[in-house]
Amino acid sequence: MDPEPANSPTPLPAADSPAARATSAPPHRRRPRYSGKYPRRFEEKYKELDPARDEETFRKVLASGKTPAGTHRPILVSEILEILKPTPGSVVVDCTLGYGGHSAEILPRIQPGGRLIGLDADSIELPKTEARLRAGGFGPDTFSVYRSNFAGLPAILVECSLPGADAILADLGVSSMQLDDPSRGFSVKHDGPLDMRMNPNRGQPASVWLEKIRPEQLAGLLLKNADEARAQLLAPQLAGQRFSTTRQLADAIRSSLPNAARNDVEMTLRRVFQAIRIAVNDEFSALDSLLRQIPACLNPGGRFVVLTFHSGEDRRVKRAFEGGMREGIYSEISTAVLRPSAEERQDNPRSSPAKLRWARRAVSGCISGDASSSPPS
Ligand SMILES: C[S@@+](CC[C@H](N)C(=O)[O-])C[C@H]1O[C@@H](n2cnc3c(N)ncnc32)[C@H](O)[C@@H]1O
Repeated sequence: MDPEPANSPTPLPAADSPAARATSAPPHRRRPRYSGKYPRRFEEKYKELDPARDEETFRKVLASGKTPAGTHRPILVSEILEILKPTPGSVVVDCTLGYGGHSAEILPRIQPGGRLIGLDADSIELPKTEARLRAGGFGPDTFSVYRSNFAGLPAILVECSLPGADAILADLGVSSMQLDDPSRGFSVKHDGPLDMRMNPNRGQPASVWLEKIRPEQLAGLLLKNADEARAQLLAPQLAGQRFSTTRQLADAIRSSLPNAARNDVEMTLRRVFQAIRIAVNDEFSALDSLLRQIPACLNPGGRFVVLTFHSGEDRRVKRAFEGGMREGIYSEISTAVLRPSAEERQDNPRSSPAKLRWARRAVSGCISGDASSSPPS
């Protein structure tokens, strides 16, 4: 695969610049009509997709425990604010800007004098998120946006002339906008091109990746990325095959499991999709790289919070934090994972698998590659 270069941040044009206006005004297209009383297809949900126009529909969808189309509901917001403690003048990095839900809460808290650097790999959603947050009154002096893999964070801090951040957040995985849009090819629930790239301008779509991979490699990845117990059975059925759409892949998985219970098949489908997504986006390499670089990106005493969504991610975070604690890089780490309350899980079922861990950089001590620590005498 062709992993995204870690240190090629692309600053976006300011939302009110001519360049941004040129890209934010698509040619007028007649909207698709509802095929019934309740729109089922993503493109038909235009009332949700434009919440400013129809607040009531938006509120109703939220109240029903769903995520309105084209949006994302931030998870564990008050817990994250409590840990990161953004205060006026703080420098904060949001490694995974997404819809900007967490950043929208952090930005007003760091004024006056604070700065938030937002990163995301997603070239489709990022300009929309930037425009929304800028419309909230946050200009380039307080809010900078980079279309970048978070593995490139050290280079971005250098570009921003910042020795480090007081608080860093990484909310891993995919956003609801990515999951729900069939054209992105992430979801087993919607038929669309089998793509799954967070940045569709880089790397290869899942369809091409799957066609090139060997069965023994795929079996290993299904196990490593999603703890898939049927990896050996499924891999020969899927590897080297051309599946153009998510439905074709889902059908092939279903027909490989003729005797399995329906619920079991659905869980397997999710795990296989997850394993392929992680591989296509090289997610574990990016996370390992971020975890290695975080101490040097934090100011002494700075805090780091990570939200993970499956055991492969959580294991890595736990190991990195425990190692950092042993080496004296961190002065404090979370001793247990924090999970969304029953109320939050009911209100937003997508929050259910989330696990939060945090670490605090030691106030003293030298970290290699650290711009904020003093040079050895
Ligand atoms: C769960 S969403 C974040 C949601 C966000 N916290 C909010 O409140 O709207 C995860 C985001 O991380 C981005 N992402 C995942 N891996 C990334 C990486 N290695 N580098 C940069 N962005 C990444 C995805 O594109 C997605 O937008």
